[in-house]
Amino acid sequence: MKKQLAVFASGTGTNFEAIARACAEGAIPADVAVMVCDKPGAAVIEKAARYGVETFVFSPKDYPSKSAFEAEIVKVLDAKKVDLVCLAGYMRIVGETLLGAYEGRIINIHPSLLPSFKGAHAVEDAVAYGVKVYGITIHWVNADLDGGRIIAQRAFDYDGNDPAEVHRIGQKIEHALYIETINKLIQ
Ligand code: GAR
Repeated sequence: MKKQLAVFASGTGTNFEAIARACAEGAIPADVAVMVCDKPGAAVIEKAARYGVETFVFSPKDYPSKSAFEAEIVKVLDAKKVDLVCLAGYMRIVGETLLGAYEGRIINIHPSLLPSFKGAHAVEDAVAYGVKVYGITIHWVNADLDGGRIIAQRAFDYDGNDPAEVHRIGQKIEHALYIETINKLIQ
């Protein structure tokens, strides 16, 4: 049986699409069993439909607590027998309910060379700081925000002040690095 992936996203979903395409084309020997999204209306939802990937889309405000919506997510992941959860622009801190069930099987991609520039505005913060070497990190997810053990990193030089350009350069690297890393982890 192929390994089963879950991809979590909140926005555009270019990483989701790269992973879904790699699975569909056999470049990753796994299925995307479900795409989990906390933003109804996010562009990633249409991308999931295009790839025939089932979705679990929810609004956190419809639940009394983080624990309540994470309990629903855990049910979905269990039902799909998910082996690996890939956070791909899921802009929400993973709480104790999801960690309790899946810690050690959740990875995240982050647009900086951790431990520098944690948080939701990593690229903007790095540009404002004036760094000259940027990068991408994939790490295990634990209770420390962007603080879990590092699995893979890739750096690139950039000597300018345009966050959009850094995002553009970084995105290509993200897609390749995520596919390589998932392949290593599921072997
Ligand atoms: C990616 O650049 C990812 O590294 C970042 O969100 C973007 C999602 O893009 N994640 C974080 O900043 C997490 N702190 P995508 O929706 O096109 O895949």
